[in-house]
Amino acid sequence: MHKKTYLTRYLVEKQRLNGHISPELRLLLEVVARACKRISQAVNKGSLGDVMGSADSANVQGEIQKKLDIIANEVLIEANEWGGHLAAMASEEMEGIHVVPNRYPQGEYLLLFDPLDGSSNIDVNVSIGTIFSVLVKPEGTGVSEQDFLQAGTRQVAAGYCVYGPQTTLVLTVGDGVAVFTLDREQGSFVLTEEDLRIPEDTQEFAVNMSNQRHWAAPVTRYIDECLQGKDGPRGKDFNMRWVGSMVADVHRILTRGGIFMYPWDSREPHKPGKLRLMYEANPMSWLVEQAGGAATDGKRRIMDIQPIQLHERVSVYMGSKNEVDRVTSYHAKAPSQA
Ligand code: AHG
Ligand code: MN
Ligand code: MN
Repeated sequence: MHKKTYLTRYLVEKQRLNGHISPELRLLLEVVARACKRISQAVNKGSLGDVMGSADSANVQGEIQKKLDIIANEVLIEANEWGGHLAAMASEEMEGIHVVPNRYPQGEYLLLFDPLDGSSNIDVNVSIGTIFSVLVKPEGTGVSEQDFLQAGTRQVAAGYCVYGPQTTLVLTVGDGVAVFTLDREQGSFVLTEEDLRIPEDTQEFAVNMSNQRHWAAPVTRYIDECLQGKDGPRGKDFNMRWVGSMVADVHRILTRGGIFMYPWDSREPHKPGKLRLMYEANPMSWLVEQAGGAATDGKRRIMDIQPIQLHERVSVYMGSKNEVDRVTSYHAKAPSQA
């Protein structure tokens, strides 16, 4: 009989074989995975559960929250509060940090998450997900928001879960990317791919084309050249996909290559981009890099950016290395913004 490797075994072996992860980090990752299973169940219920539609409230970014944004946030907090592995959590849906209450022991890790990515797709039954990033709390007593402001290179684990036709957990602890598929009958994540690699070249891009007229010159140039296809400077035709959930778009790129872009645009010129650095761009960048791809904000490697604020935003170009290098080089040659 073909033996399955479950998430627990995968993590225990990582802990045991090369000391790559601590027992507390293993617990943390198992707890996050369990929370994702609960979110997956809520997502699957759809209209049969009280999970669809707007919550009639706004988050710190001024975005209207969906019921599922709030449910997913609560599931992740409740699951992670009591285990003794965390000092505090931060989320897209909470303005400040959530410190582990005094009644529980405090651990050394910090967890950041986008509890529900792709909110606009919830009510239309299109893939959505959860993104998370793990940091180590700097030495010292107590825990503050300042402790979270660490560059992406300091992450010790990162991952996401896609709630799509399958529920898939994708994880890195810094030695490659592993993919687990939820076996719904057993309620367990099963290892279905190890050492995922992104092809260096691609003929597929993901960008919200409706923003084209607001882009900066390097982005316009890059996409124009792709659109010219075989007859243009690239000498090949390109395809386009845009799900509108970063998890789903990046998952496709991790699986078969491509470039994902959410550039700065002139609609809100004071913001560097739409996506959030600490719980969207950083974890996804690490996964993409671990799979042999690249991730920049057009000028810098995303993971090298020193965060200044918990909810800060960033331009994002990630995926197949040669394409990310190309669009980044166009920015280097451009004189001004973005
Ligand atoms: P969230 O639902 O967590 O706010 O994130 C939505 C993000 C991201 O998932 C996606 O790539 C992007 O917003 C889609 O933006 P557009 O609506 O501009 O296409
Ligand atoms: Mn998101
Ligand atoms: Mn979200």
